[in-house]
Amino acid sequence: MDTPFSTLIRTASHEQHTEAETSTFMGDLLGGALGVEAYTRYTEQLWFVYRALEADAERLARDAVAGPFIRPELLRVPELERDLAHLRGAGWRSSVSALPATREYAARVAECAASWPGGYVAHHYTRYLGDLSGGQIIRDKAERTWGFARKGDGVRFYVFEQVGNPAAFKRGYRELLDKIAVDDLEKQRVIAECKRAFALNTALFSALGEEFSSAA
Ligand code: HEM
Repeated sequence: MDTPFSTLIRTASHEQHTEAETSTFMGDLLGGALGVEAYTRYTEQLWFVYRALEADAERLARDAVAGPFIRPELLRVPELERDLAHLRGAGWRSSVSALPATREYAARVAECAASWPGGYVAHHYTRYLGDLSGGQIIRDKAERTWGFARKGDGVRFYVFEQVGNPAAFKRGYRELLDKIAVDDLEKQRVIAECKRAFALNTALFSALGEEFSSAA
């Protein structure tokens, strides 16, 4: 297999990426058709997902397969918590709730984190590389639409303060993917899990789209 793994995983998820990007909820949100409540609800859902992604980071950092991907500068839970405190107020913890689609997504991430490092890498890639890419577009729109301070409270989730050069970071990340310590069969399984990760994101957008509709 000559094609680098980073190319394989990107190509395999390309179609689903377009689907996620063009989902009604994302389109409405970024098109300015929804209020800050929808953005806040989405941010809450991300908090549940990233808690699952980051809860086992210390242990996974010692894993031969997942370890190279675990980087402190990526951790998002503290940033999400600052955003939620800004969006919902100091008592935000008592009001957040996970949608069923979010529970399903977070449970799958937790399952991979607990027992399948390759699957965990698929979820790690799907979220963090996306956040470093399209996430920047979302941040820009959110700042303009709801008046958050540039890179400030409300959009800190999208700000990787300790990643000086995101393009270089992504290049390094793709090199890690290309060197992932698994065989070809396992690489196919990781790709399949990446597709599942995208599907879980799309399902979350559908659920949010049902709760918040520009047509309502
Ligand atoms: C409106 C929403 C979105 C926009 C505008 C967007 C935009 C982009 C753009 C422009 C890139 C290319 C960056 C580059 O080549 O360096 C990218 C990459 C990526 N996005 Fe998105 N995206 C969105 C939503 C999502 C979602 C929901 C996910 C999954 C949860 C996602 C996951 C990814 C991943 C994993 C990559 C890296 C692909 C690779 O180079 O291997 N994106 N996105």
